[in-house]
Amino acid sequence: MYSRALRPCLITFQVHGRHFSSTKQNNRRVTVIGAAGGIGQPLSLLLKQSDAITNLNLYDIVKHTPGVACDISHMNFPAKVTGFTGPDQLKDALRDAEVVIIPAGVPRKPGMTRDDLFNTNASVVRDVALAAAEVCPKALVGIITNPVNSCVPIYCEVMKKAGKLDPNRIFGISTLDLVRASAFIGQAKGLNPKTVNCPVVGGHSGVTIVPLISQCQPAVSFPQPELEKLTKRIQEAGTEVVQAKAGAGSATLSMAFAGARFAFALIRALNGESNVIECAYVMSDVQGTKYFASPLLIGRNGIEKNLGLGKLSDYEQQLVKAAIPELKANVATGEKFVK
Ligand code: LAC
Repeated sequence: MYSRALRPCLITFQVHGRHFSSTKQNNRRVTVIGAAGGIGQPLSLLLKQSDAITNLNLYDIVKHTPGVACDISHMNFPAKVTGFTGPDQLKDALRDAEVVIIPAGVPRKPGMTRDDLFNTNASVVRDVALAAAEVCPKALVGIITNPVNSCVPIYCEVMKKAGKLDPNRIFGISTLDLVRASAFIGQAKGLNPKTVNCPVVGGHSGVTIVPLISQCQPAVSFPQPELEKLTKRIQEAGTEVVQAKAGAGSATLSMAFAGARFAFALIRALNGESNVIECAYVMSDVQGTKYFASPLLIGRNGIEKNLGLGKLSDYEQQLVKAAIPELKANVATGEKFVK
């Protein structure tokens, strides 16, 4: 029933040559901010199914959030689910959280870019960071709120002002770009998309989304025109969903899936699993843009090692070059908002 990414934390160990498997019991506290929204609800549904989570706090500004929590709490999994609503309860929702996933904010309508959401969503992320700096400064944080390219710098700047910044713990979730790349490459090559793994680097909007198809596992190759078409489709896949939903919002279900995959990676790292590698958009000097998404080795304290970009094809080098000015501008917009 679970895909590889969604399997609860199974630890295998060997006793007298025999393999045993057990679910490791750790006290993992996870908070979802924006839990009653289009992404937040299915994300919470997926998280509840993990045996590795002991406490699942669901926060949103809307009044029916305790109802969403009540609903999910009836699923027969161990996590204790608690609902929180309204700014007065934000700190209680975040207190002592080890993992915080933030899909809060408004989605795009047709014709909008992710940047058009800045005015509304920037203050949402700022307010969450202000509260988190006080009550869970050590949490591993995954930001889904758009524009991700600017919202991650906002979160980091707020933490910095509060004297609590640890950039190794703050991630912009770009997992959906990898999920889409796997899906589209799998379709194009007749491969099971679950077995396809293609790194995507840069940022999470338009030209800043840079799939590294030359590093895809299993190795695949395309004639240049097809490669360019596929790259463009991965870069614009969010807009494909916005248009298909015709005014009703952007990707919610695939985003929830991707957010859950990333949250489970963080939890596996917290539980001491080695070799947890995911791409995410983080503070980084790999391209001189201050923030950049790349593959990361993640451990108990967040990023253990930024694995960088590896070897790029000429075409991928061009894509990275094209992403840089936009990324720099997006980062500056986020930083300016906090100053
Ligand atoms: C997307 C939005 C949710 O990529 O950022 O579809």
